[in-house]
Amino acid sequence: MLGLTGPRASRPRRVERMPVPQPAVLFVCLGNICRSPLAEAAFRQEAQRRGLEVEIDSAGTGSWHIGDPPDRRAQAVALKHGVDISGYRGRQVKPDDFRRFTHVVALDRDNLADLKRLRPSDGTARLMLLLDAVEGRQGKSVADPYYGEDAGFEVTWADAVAGAKGLADWIEGEG
Ligand code: 4NP
Repeated sequence: MLGLTGPRASRPRRVERMPVPQPAVLFVCLGNICRSPLAEAAFRQEAQRRGLEVEIDSAGTGSWHIGDPPDRRAQAVALKHGVDISGYRGRQVKPDDFRRFTHVVALDRDNLADLKRLRPSDGTARLMLLLDAVEGRQGKSVADPYYGEDAGFEVTWADAVAGAKGLADWIEGEG
């Protein structure tokens, strides 16, 4: 039998593992004043509750609301559920987001299609829909409440909370 001799013979086999990067999640909708700030708020609340170390931000594919605070109805529903989002400010998605964040999470299918177009070739982020993390709602969009009644924002909040819990489970499972 051929055997190794010399220094290589006794060296233990080592399985090389890629280091798991600290999770960083960017939520993306169209305007960054309604759905993605609520997803950001719900996920901040969920991550804090679990002690999950994660960077969190939100952005829009559109440019209309750069620098604006969230819609007053989004602010009201978040505050009602324990998160003050009055200090959030709108920003637009940029190429570096696809390298900086581990997960870029679209609120609806149009946003996801736009993100796939915007992703640079060296983008490393995983692209997904928020509701992909919710059992039975994979592939579905969070409805845009912007042109609707105030009550629509409670529906958005409920979707954001369900997505936040599913996503936190998902990320904890990856770690
Ligand atoms: P969001 O809602 O994408 O959930 O922030 C919208 C906010 C603003 C506009 C559209 C959607 N807009 O056309 O200005």
